[in-house]
Amino acid sequence: MADRYLSFTATAPGRFLTARLGLPQPAALSRWTAERPALEGHLLHLTAGGPSGLDLAPVLARTGLPTTTETAGAGPEAAGATAGTTGTTGFTGSAGTTRPAAVVLDATGVRDVDALAEVHAALHPVLRSVAASGRVVVLGAPLDARDHHQAAVQQALEGFVRSLGKEIGRGRTVNLVRLTDASAAESTLRFLLSPKSAYVSGQVIGVGAEAPDGPVDWVLPLSGRTALVTGGARGIGAAVAKTLARDGAHVVVLDVPQAEEDAHRVAARLGGSALTLDITAADAGERIAAELPDGLDVLIHNAGITRDRRLVNMPAERWSSVLDVNLASVLRTTDALLAKGALRTGGRIVATASIAGLAGNAGQTNYGASKAGVAGLVRSLAPRALAEHGVTVNAVAPGFIETRMTAAVPLFIREAGRRMNSLAQGGLPVDVAETTAWLAHPASGAVNGQVVRVCGQSLLGA
Ligand code: NAI
Repeated sequence: MADRYLSFTATAPGRFLTARLGLPQPAALSRWTAERPALEGHLLHLTAGGPSGLDLAPVLARTGLPTTTETAGAGPEAAGATAGTTGTTGFTGSAGTTRPAAVVLDATGVRDVDALAEVHAALHPVLRSVAASGRVVVLGAPLDARDHHQAAVQQALEGFVRSLGKEIGRGRTVNLVRLTDASAAESTLRFLLSPKSAYVSGQVIGVGAEAPDGPVDWVLPLSGRTALVTGGARGIGAAVAKTLARDGAHVVVLDVPQAEEDAHRVAARLGGSALTLDITAADAGERIAAELPDGLDVLIHNAGITRDRRLVNMPAERWSSVLDVNLASVLRTTDALLAKGALRTGGRIVATASIAGLAGNAGQTNYGASKAGVAGLVRSLAPRALAEHGVTVNAVAPGFIETRMTAAVPLFIREAGRRMNSLAQGGLPVDVAETTAWLAHPASGAVNGQVVRVCGQSLLGA
């Protein structure tokens, strides 16, 4: 179901009318294409709270965006005079003369309220100039349990980032990354500083300290790897399959026998294979393992269903079918595949939660419970799966995504779902797929136990 309002506001009369009426004005988002794979413009690297312990400059240089580094608190004019150009791809201007496509503010050194003022001083003068569909990424430190001043101001960065995300507009996103090692966060920074993260805003992402060992193939990161996508015959799952195949994976598209034709069509287009199987079958894990005797590297739990009813009207069958597909089968197959050693070392599990599970939604006690359960599974299993199997476990939590599932939602609820987020529009399946591909990336080993919302910073449960 096309978003006609978004098309209307892209026209001059549409913009005029919606502005006069005070209606939301969603900006058309720039997304990744093979022709335009990177943001267009330069990257402004700012620091607040004193010199950082992060070796950030080489990592930012490798994003391919020409980088301008500024000292804390320098305004645009001062910046024009003092900026040091550290980029590699020919940018010769200064922050004062071109529009930054991205701003990275390193606030890891902020330890007290006075230093927090440098966050304001650094961003206040430059925000207006950040290009449409641009990126603001704030870097924070883990909260220090022995220093409540540091913990207070580092936590303050979350409120700051989430508030800025709600006011920045023009398709621009704002996210916070907590890190201790720049190389370990390279895949995360590349994702957030690219068009691939178009619908991810207002997020706080924790990244561990383990940097990838050995060289990373940034063009075909999943080359030689096998990925299995449940529910891959259509919707978000089909987009995930396509994106992982783009990244070089051999993709196995799993779906129910009724969707066999679609599963084969998707798989054939990607040079992958199809596996028809109801994921709720008690032996689903064993059958997957038998189908893939050499094991697999990436397991995407995407299959999901809704059977909405308010609890007072909900028969037990509606409860159990949703819990079975969305949660019990995820637990069962994960356990079976890990127990069999079917996930190779360096493997990735990405499960699909939902903002309905994080925020709650009327008519979705079954669905909300199942998706909150997915978040619980991820947080508990992640450290053990990494320690015992070398496998990371994360989740994506989509907001309103334009698929057959949401096309079936009644008109007014659908319209509210689309607009009630900072980007004032629904996301596309590819937005969830790109986020999944980042989590599945071999260089994302330091991202573990995270539940990342892909929701344009939905107002629900923000
Ligand atoms: P969809 O209904 O378009 O596709 C789901 C796919 O899963 C279908 O191909 C279906 O045949 C398959 N499937 C269902 N039960 C299965 C089973 N027992 N075994 C194997 N395959 C099965 O759904 P959509 O919108 O693409 O959603 C994908 C995932 O994203 C689901 O987990 C959903 O809960 C989640 N999600 C979607 C949102 C949205 O706005 N569309 C929002 C939040 C989460």
